[in-house]
Order: sequence, then structure tokens, then C-alpha cells
Amino acid sequence: MQLRMLHKVLRNGPVQVVLFILIVIFVILYYHKQYSFTSTSDNNGYINMNDTNLLEDTLKDKSAVTTSTIAPTVTEPEILDPVRMIYEEGHVDVDPFICENPYGNITLTIMVTSAVQNLRARMDVRLTWGHWSIRNDVKIIFMVGQTSDEKVQSEVRNEQNLYHDVVQGHFMDTYNNLTLKTVFMLEWLSINCPNTAFVLKTDEDMFINVPKLLDYLSTKDPKERTFHGRLFGNWKPDRNPKSKYYVSLNAYKDSEFPPMFSGTAYVFPGFLAHELFQASLNHTFLKLEDVFLTGLVAKELGIGHTHWLQFYNLGYAKLTPCNIRRVVAIHNVRKERQFEAWLKVNDMRLKC
Ligand SMILES: *[C@@H]1O[C@H](CO)[C@@H](O)[C@H](O)[C@H]1NC(C)=O
Ligand SMILES: *[C@@H]1O[C@H](CO)[C@@H](O)[C@H](O)[C@H]1NC(C)=O
Ligand SMILES: *[C@@H]1O[C@H](CO)[C@@H](O)[C@H](O)[C@H]1NC(C)=O
Ligand SMILES: *[C@@H]1O[C@H](CO)[C@@H](O)[C@H](O)[C@H]1NC(C)=O
Repeated sequence: MQLRMLHKVLRNGPVQVVLFILIVIFVILYYHKQYSFTSTSDNNGYINMNDTNLLEDTLKDKSAVTTSTIAPTVTEPEILDPVRMIYEEGHVDVDPFICENPYGNITLTIMVTSAVQNLRARMDVRLTWGHWSIRNDVKIIFMVGQTSDEKVQSEVRNEQNLYHDVVQGHFMDTYNNLTLKTVFMLEWLSINCPNTAFVLKTDEDMFINVPKLLDYLSTKDPKERTFHGRLFGNWKPDRNPKSKYYVSLNAYKDSEFPPMFSGTAYVFPGFLAHELFQASLNHTFLKLEDVFLTGLVAKELGIGHTHWLQFYNLGYAKLTPCNIRRVVAIHNVRKERQFEAWLKVNDMRLKC
């Protein structure tokens, strides 16, 4: 049919030929755009796993760590105490049986950092990729802090009663307290989920391809002392005092951080939670939670980093079926984009 069309077009003179060529170019450009990331693409139109533009993008995307929590408006005095001095143990409990599985141990517990007032974001996750926790061996838990807003607090309580998947620490839910949220995660896990094989720490504005992650983890030893994620080369402390990520020389003196993973998504074996918790309490506070745990504390405990390209943690990705099916973690997926990603990962009529 296309051949016959071409034949006809060629017979009809130069104007039609030019038009025909323009249409072909348009179609090619359209599909090229559809099947690539906004920032870059390789020849297949998929993610080029070795692209330095992506690397840059992801480094910029360090903002990643916590777009979900309100950024500070005033510079607060730097804290250089051990975490033990500021962290209040305990939490507002949910279902004490949350980590029970009558059919065996938990394979994966997904701990999602969420700003206390963002009920909508938690609902979006529950209605989309959170569905994967329907498996008996996969659990999903949202971690929030305290709020002074009584309306928000009563909503959180309702949410806990309805879904049994929100845990609340004793610290104020602010950007500067994210490290406390991570320490809280470790405390909570070591009490409530000691037998989970693996833990994924992620954020509410991430899309997580859980089956892909489970496939990967099924080849890994849950007794190995290592974090899993994607390494991006060594991060350097931001020495600009005006930056959200400012790290003073007093807080960290070296020019590079040790190997670490972005807080948007990293995995560790559940049996390490208790040890990480104890060591975190003794460590000097640093507000960058991912540097703190996966970099500094990990180094101190001799815990390694297993690098996996497909992990990704990438922001601003085009939500094409291929991209969603090929990587574990995509950042900056909020609201409609959660539903878009969820539909595309499940609609098998969409070819990849
Ligand atoms: C990826 O990048 C590294 C460093 O730039 C280079 O040595 C390597 O050959 C690249 N690999 C591929 C598959 O392009
Ligand atoms: C669950 O995990 C614990 C600790 O790793 C282990 O002792 C126990 O045998 C496991 N149970 C099952 C049913 O796999
Ligand atoms: C948490 O953050 C707030 C504001 O950033 C701060 O005032 C408070 O002392 C921090 N710590 C705890 C334990 O809430
Ligand atoms: C933490 O510090 C205390 C007191 O300095 C010490 O007794 C304890 O062994 C330390 N724990 C860890 C896990 O390093």
C-alpha cells in the first residue's frame, strides 16, 4: 500500500514529492521524540546507560533527595552533635503486624519518605505502583514526621486507620530533619521488620518498577554487607553557604564524599538495619541524609556499594513504555505522571 502511494506521489509532480518527504520527516521526528528521554537518547531511542549528559542531569537532580519536603526558608544554625543528642527514639505506631507474612519472610520492604501534609502524593503511590505490595512478601510504608497543623495531624490519623501504612517519627517534618527520618527508618525497621531480606528507601515522587527490582534482588545475597543502587562518580560537598545542600568544612572537611547513592532510591539488606541504626546514633549529624547513611556511616561500618546501571534514579525522564520497563527508579513522577507511568508499564499493547 505504501509502495502504491509512493508510486502515485512520484507520478504527481514535484510539489507532492516535497510534501511527501516533509510528512515522512515529520513522522520520523515524532517517533524519535516519543521514544527518547528529554535530555538524551541513544540510537535505539532508549536510555544510553553510559551517557554523560544523563550523568550531569542526575547530578543536578541531587535536588532529588527531597523535593518532597519543604525546603528551608531561613538558614538554621549548623548542628555538629552526634545524632544521639537530637534524635528522640520511638514513633507513633501503626499496625504492629505490618511486617508479618504468614507464608514466609518478607522479600522487600519499601520505605517511602513523604512530607506529612502530602496525603495526595501517598494516595497516588497507593493507587499506582504501590499496588505491587499486594504480594505477601512485599510491604510498603510511608514515613512522616510531626506537624503543628492539627488538621493535617487528624488526616494522618485517619489515613493510618484506613491503610495501616504510615509511620510517624517524633521529629518535626522539615527538610533539615530528613536525616532524622532516615535514622527513624532504621530504628523502626530493626524493631518491626527484622526479617525482611531487603529494604528499598525511596521518596514519594518516585516511580518504582517493583518487579524489575525483585528480579534483580532474586540474584543477590541478603546477607552480603552492601548497599545496592547506582553510582554516579564521587559527589563533592557544596561549599556555597546559600545552597540548600551546603556542607561546611566543620561538618565535612574532605573535598569529596565517599562512594554513596542518591536518597531517591537505594537498597540495603534488612539485617543491617540495627547496626546502621546504632552507628548512625553515634555519628555526627549531617543534614544530607543520603551522604550521611550510604556514604559516611556505610564507610565507617565497611559496608560496600553494589552498582547497577538499571537502578537509575533519573529525573525528567520521558515516560515511554521502554524507559519505565527498563529501569527501577524514575524521579520527579508526581500526580498525573504516576498514573501515566503505571498505565504504560501495565498496558502490554504498548510495545517496547
Ligand atoms: C562508557 O564510558 C566510559 C568512560 O567514559 C568508557 O570508557 C566506556 O568505553 C564507555 N562504554 C560504552 C559501552 O560506551
Ligand atoms: C526468616 O528469616 C529468618 C532470619 O533471616 C530465618 O531465621 C528464618 O528461617 C526465615 N524463615 C523463613 C520461613 O524463611
Ligand atoms: C527539626 O527541624 C526543625 C526546623 O527545621 C527544628 O526546629 C527542630 O529542632 C528539628 N529537630 C527535631 C528533633 O524536631
Ligand atoms: C557508640 O558510642 C558509645 C559511647 O561513646 C559506645 O559505647 C558505643 O559502643 C558506640 N556504638 C557503636 C555502634 O559504635
